[in-house]
Amino acid sequence: MGLVAAVTTVVLAVVATAIKWLPDSAATQADRIDRVYWAVTIICVGIFAVVAAVSVYAVWKFRAPPDDWEDGSPIHGHAGLEKVWTAIPLALVIFISVYSSYELSKAEDVPLDHPVVHVTSQQFAWSFSYPELGDDMSLGELVLPIGETVELDLTAKDVIHSFWVREWRVKQDAVPGIHTHIVVTPTKTGTYEIICTELCGLGHAAMRSQARVLSASEYRKWIEQQKQGAQAAAMPSTGGKVDAEAIFTGSTGGCGNCHTLAEAGTKGAVGPDLDKVLQGKSADFVHESIVDPNAEIAPGYQPNVMPQDFEQKLSSAQIDALVAYLVKAVKK
Ligand code: CUA
Repeated sequence: MGLVAAVTTVVLAVVATAIKWLPDSAATQADRIDRVYWAVTIICVGIFAVVAAVSVYAVWKFRAPPDDWEDGSPIHGHAGLEKVWTAIPLALVIFISVYSSYELSKAEDVPLDHPVVHVTSQQFAWSFSYPELGDDMSLGELVLPIGETVELDLTAKDVIHSFWVREWRVKQDAVPGIHTHIVVTPTKTGTYEIICTELCGLGHAAMRSQARVLSASEYRKWIEQQKQGAQAAAMPSTGGKVDAEAIFTGSTGGCGNCHTLAEAGTKGAVGPDLDKVLQGKSADFVHESIVDPNAEIAPGYQPNVMPQDFEQKLSSAQIDALVAYLVKAVKK
């Protein structure tokens, strides 16, 4: 019996550890979740080994001889055994619930004075506004400094979405009308995928964004860049001319978050590649695509993904400049 238990344990331990079941952890919250996973996995390996050992032993030891047609001897309850098989699972389940609630509550610990990033979801895009940049500036990607505990305040404009970053092991629904929260402390720089995990409509599968984790100094630099981008766009008269590229790449238009345009050096992949779809198109077409994005949808893309309020958000001079800039940019 001991041998079967030992072999089973070794086999399960190899299966559990040799295969990389979980993506790399990139947040302290992920480490906590993983510890709970491992604690439960170890318990399961132990239980499975005991059950396998007892089953194999019973099959071998109590096997009826081929000519034995008698009934087995009746067995009555065994009070001692029943107490044991009640007490052990009870203790394990209590341990799992106490331990996981401890780790989960620790994962949500935030310092009293912590930054809050507002996350807004809508069919089918995420937008983020940062404490350093004010609430009226919203950007298409989540950028966080490494090592800082940040609270994400989630809400939705239309239907329920769900925010998930695999490497952080944090997932939370974004619900219209209420605010939900998650806490993340990134431990690795890099780019991670933000995935919507609540079926929210036709574009659900494409509702992705990215989270970038930067070093503290890079993060400060990035914040400064966003501020300058906003100023450039707010005061568009650089020598009487609107700076269309600043509108395109900065947060005023935010076009570059979703669109690739070689001229502006943007690589967004949420919407169509402008170098391709605007090739040979007229200024009228470009204008319509900005103010009424649903009028013509590029093949393979969904309507209602691109915001439809650019006519309100941008001045007509800004839109005209953007159109001229795009027509010229794709001709190159
Ligand atoms: Cu948003 Cu699925």
